[in-house]
This record gives sequence, structure tokens and C-alpha cells, in this order.
Amino acid sequence: MFSNRNNAALSNSNIVTFSIVIPTYNESENILRLISEIEKNLPTGDFTEIIVVDDNSPDGTGKLVEDCITKKGNKAKEKNSSHTKNHILKVVHRTGKEGLIPAILDGVRQSSGTNVLIMDADFSHPPEVIPKMMSELKRNPNSIVIGSRYIEGGKVVGWPARRKILSKGASTLARVGLNVKNVKDPMSGLFALPRELIQNISIATKGYKILLEILVKNKEIPVIEVPYTFTDRQSGKSKMSYNVIVNYAEAIWQLYQHGQKSDRVKISEQVNKRSVRFISKVGRYYTVSISGLVINYIVSFLLANDVANSIRLLSNEWYLEASIIGAIISMTSNFFLNKYWTFEDKRFEVRSTARQYLSFIGMSAIGLIIQISLLYYMVENFVPYRMSLIISIAVATTINFILNKKFTFKEKVWA
Ligand code: GDD
Ligand code: MN
Repeated sequence: MFSNRNNAALSNSNIVTFSIVIPTYNESENILRLISEIEKNLPTGDFTEIIVVDDNSPDGTGKLVEDCITKKGNKAKEKNSSHTKNHILKVVHRTGKEGLIPAILDGVRQSSGTNVLIMDADFSHPPEVIPKMMSELKRNPNSIVIGSRYIEGGKVVGWPARRKILSKGASTLARVGLNVKNVKDPMSGLFALPRELIQNISIATKGYKILLEILVKNKEIPVIEVPYTFTDRQSGKSKMSYNVIVNYAEAIWQLYQHGQKSDRVKISEQVNKRSVRFISKVGRYYTVSISGLVINYIVSFLLANDVANSIRLLSNEWYLEASIIGAIISMTSNFFLNKYWTFEDKRFEVRSTARQYLSFIGMSAIGLIIQISLLYYMVENFVPYRMSLIISIAVATTINFILNKKFTFKEKVWA
């Protein structure tokens, strides 16, 4: 429903220079006072249309404006003062809360001014800055005039730090990211421009940032910023600050943190699993190696003892033979234990097992060379023999483990 009851008080020759579009939702505490403040500040030379676009506010904002229009119409008739009137008040009633941008666009659609000025109803945008913005736009007809918090002379009062940071951050992001660097306050809700500019644009975004979209889609149009002090609303509740923007930002922040946290957990789980697996395999490998030494010792001992000797199992160099046999048996048992237990490889296909076996022996030989070289090097450098032995065995066994893991059992080293 579109209300324009004091039309009778206007002469048809009035060309509307400016349409001031004020979206409202539950602004009953502000709207009438704001209208009268705007009226006081309107430049006398121009004819201005004030359009309140109300989303059927439950607090009766729309009805208040409606009544105000009726009263003004009656007064105008009484005093027959239409010729001194430099403005008209209208209200657009929308069926329900559909958001700020649709409300603004609806207001613009129903306006008739050459230029439109958009502003909030909660006194965050001071009516005193209107004349300056209007005159700037009249002087530079094909441009966008922005009420700016972020140029010299402008500021924000009454916002908590986090909203200030949020707003500034969002502005900076938009300026850089959307390449509207020349504009200091592209997120402003206070701006004026030729009506055509906003009417011909298809606004795709939801939310609050209609100006941003206009700027992005009209990069060639000059921008003029007029400083003002944004004061957080004194009456009524913000429809966006906490509910829309901060919630949104908080949601993003939470999602971001949530993502980070679960990533962290996932990564540490992986690292955990990986390192646990690695360490457990190293542990098994060492255990198998020790069992090999024991087997080696026992076999060598048994073969070299008197019983074995007496049945002439071995030659005269019995102790060497015993040791070689002990080594071969222990190496073989090491191989199978490591294959089955350490590396959990339960396939025993003959050819591949033989290949693995040879590889395992080759790696053991490399390990032995490393062990002996290291032992020699350390002892030569006056490291005590026993310590040298322990270190060289540990190093050689570890290298051996890695070599076998990678080349014999074809696993990734760190997996
Ligand atoms: N019709 C209608 N429908 N009006 C709405 C709606 C809606 O869904 N939501 C909000 N409004 C009106 C409010 O009544 C007010 O007049 C104006 O839009 C701004 O709403 P606020 O809730 O006061 O917003 P704010 O103070 O948090 O945000 C201000 O700062 C932003 C910049 O950081 C506004 O100026 C924004 O336009 C601006 O982008
Ligand atoms: Mn506000």
C-alpha cells in the first residue's frame, strides 16, 4: 500500500530533486523525531520527498508515519500553506520483514526524485549532514556521495571495539578485494546518488551492503565522501549489529575455529597414528633383532659344544662354522618374524618371499658394514668401546629397519 495523502497540498509543478529513503523496522521511538529533524535541515531551494519504507513493524512504526502524514495534510489544508512546503512525506508499507536491501529498492522504485538519499532511521546518520551531501551531489550530478566514517572528520561513536574492528576490517577487505580502493567507507548505509543509478542496477546480494554492490558495478562513477560521525543508536534495537553482522561474523569465526580445531585434531591423530605405528614397528624390529642375537648365540653355542663336536657335525673350524650357521639361522628367523610380525606382511608367495629374503640379507649386510664402520670410527676417536658398540648397533639397526621398511617390504618410511 502506498500512501500519499497530503498530495492535495502540493502543486504539480514541484520537481522532486531529492527522495530521502528511510527503511524502518521497529523504529517507533525514532521515526517521528527523525522526520522532524530532517525537515529542519532540508535546504529550502529544493523539493524533497521523504519516503519511509516500513516492513510492517510490530511496534507500529508504519502507523505512526501514516498518522503523521494525515496530521500534516490537515494542517496544510487549514493553513493553506502548501506553497511554502519544500517537502512531502510518504510511507511505503511492506507486508513483512524482508530485509534492508529489498526495502530500500522498494522505496527507490516508488520514489520520484532525480536523486535519492538513503539513510537509517535510528539517528546513526545525523540529519545535519544531509544538506552537505545534497549540495555535493547537485554540484557533481553524475556521482555517488557517501556519508563517510573513515575519512578525516568522520568517526564512529558508541560501537564496541569488536564491531568497530569488524566494520573497518570488512571495509578494508571490500576495498582491496573488490577493488573499490578509492572509497574509504564502502559499507556506509548513508549515501546519495542519481536515482537512475540505483534503479538500473540489479542487486544480487542479500544483507546490508547495497552501496558496496552499487560501487562495484559502477566503478567509473566518481565518488565523493562527506565525513560524518556515526553514533550508535540511542533508542530501539539494531536489526543488524548483533543479530546479523556479529552473528554472521561469529558464525564464520566459529566455523573457522571449528575447522581449525578439527583439522588440528585430525592432523594430530594422523601424526599420532603415524608416529605410534612407526615407533611400534621400530620396537618390534628391535625385539626381533634381539631375538636374532639370542638365536644366533644359542645356535652357535649348541653347534659348537662338545655334543655337536662329538658327532662330528662340524669341521675343525667348528666355532667359525657354528657362528656362520648361527648367523644364517638368526637372520632367517629375523626375516620371517619381521615379515609377519613387524611389517604385518602375511603373503608368503615363494618368489616374492625369496626376493624379500635376499633383499633383507642385503640390507643386513649394509647394516653390518655401517655398524662396523661406525664402531671403528668411534673407537678410533676414543669413544669408549662399550658405548661405541651400543651406539653403532643402535644406529645400524635403525638404519637397517628403515632400509628394510622401504626396500624390502616396500612401505613408506614415515607411515
Ligand atoms: N524496512 C526494513 N526492513 N528496514 C530495516 C530492516 C528490514 O528488514 N532491517 C533494518 N532496517 C532499518 C532499520 O530500522 C534502520 O533504520 C536501518 O535499516 C539500519 O538498521 P540498523 O539495525 O540500525 O543497522 P546498524 O546500525 O547495525 O547498521 C548500520 O551500519 C552499517 C554500516 O556498518 C546501517 O547504517 C547500515 O545501513 C550500514 O551498512
Ligand atoms: Mn543503526
